Amino acid sequence: MSEKLKYELPEDRIPKAWYNITADLPEPLPPGQPIGPADLEPLFPMALIEQEVSSERWIDIPEPVRDVYKLWRPSPLYRARRLEKALDTPAKIYYKNEGVSPPGSHKPNTAVAQAFYNKEAGVKKITTETGAGQWGSALAFAGSLFDLSVKVFMVRVSYEQKPYRKALMAAYGAECIPSPSDQTEAGRQMLARDPNTSGSLGMAISEAVELAAMNEDTKYSLGSVLNHVLLHQTVIGQEAIEQLELAGDYPDVLVACTGGGSNFGGIALPFIGKKLREGGDLRVVATEPSACPTLTRGRYAYDFGDTGHLTPLVRMHTLGSSFVPPGFHAGGLRYHGMAPIVSHLQELGLIEAQAFHQNACFEAGIQFARTEGIVPAPESNHAVKGAIDEAIRCREEGVGRTILFNLSGHGNFDMAAYLEYFQGGLEDRDYDHELLERALAELPEID
Ligand SMILES: Cc1ncc(COP(=O)(O)O)c(C=O)c1O
Repeated sequence: MSEKLKYELPEDRIPKAWYNITADLPEPLPPGQPIGPADLEPLFPMALIEQEVSSERWIDIPEPVRDVYKLWRPSPLYRARRLEKALDTPAKIYYKNEGVSPPGSHKPNTAVAQAFYNKEAGVKKITTETGAGQWGSALAFAGSLFDLSVKVFMVRVSYEQKPYRKALMAAYGAECIPSPSDQTEAGRQMLARDPNTSGSLGMAISEAVELAAMNEDTKYSLGSVLNHVLLHQTVIGQEAIEQLELAGDYPDVLVACTGGGSNFGGIALPFIGKKLREGGDLRVVATEPSACPTLTRGRYAYDFGDTGHLTPLVRMHTLGSSFVPPGFHAGGLRYHGMAPIVSHLQELGLIEAQAFHQNACFEAGIQFARTEGIVPAPESNHAVKGAIDEAIRCREEGVGRTILFNLSGHGNFDMAAYLEYFQGGLEDRDYDHELLERALAELPEID
């Protein structure tokens, strides 16, 4: 009998509602400082602010959003049989492939929703930041479908590493500029402090937020971290639960990479909610870069989401908002903070975290490409590495566990990074300990 590789759902099985884990948490999320709708109103349309603070378990997905999701959703769930064989493991490895979206990652799951609600609210322009370029191109794609003008501040080091992501944003009609830039007060201040800075997501957020706060017709859009972003991503986990039912399986271990926590939340929250409601002993593992180790080395504290301190304070794992990680090749994981929901789950002991160096992640990504055929995004390589390590542990222990991981995106625009890896030019840089201590010492004091 031939062995099944792909578990697919028909279009009408695209989830009809997003799942909000705050309804099932054993302890509520700590409040933001200050965080009432009025604090967020200059930046976001009211529908998204309501989702940010909602405690409803299910929030309906508007039909126009589901209609766009149909372009690539439900995304396929694969059984990685060739990878299992190469690893000689008794483990079963499944992965959800979010790289099938038009821009190539999970990011459009929220970009489309955010563009829809902005359009409904009469907004004309949206600003945002991007690290890897995946988020910027996802919002550019969504903006083109809902006829919104999109301006993207791209972290300088990624802007220089990834010319084709810029071209993709241009193809979707968006403007992309390197950050920090001289177009905002925040950008000018950061350039004055360090004219050669590689930039950071925290800096790019300050620039995008400043423009939205100063202009009546402009709102801001964030690709990760916030509750409503993780909410929109829960289509991933909901589909995966149904697809694993088709396979007659359920994971013992779930792995996803974390930058700001959105693809991790997207796949993990529906499973964690199920565990909270029904029990079970699923392990959930977040994987992150050793060079920007927010969950494994950060402090759980109130901090700003951006370098210029324009955002409200949220309680999260943070390396400090002035922390600038070295310029490694997973731009989407170079963020100083972590989603409050993901941080809270770690505090509650419901998830664990592991940090990896980039060469080990590229090695895992290449093994995946040579067995499963897809070249993962450098960010996603952190999830591949985590899943491979779990499968090797299964071999060593002689135990056949079921592993599910999220392949958050493909790496077809990241070939410069792969070339550098093949030439042996990638450094395994650790974060700067002194810089981390300094950034943590600057954390705001909250009573
Ligand atoms: C492919 C891919 N995976 C993961 C991430 C990390 O973001 P998040 O933690 O929000 O999923 C990014 C961010 O840009 C990305 O492009």
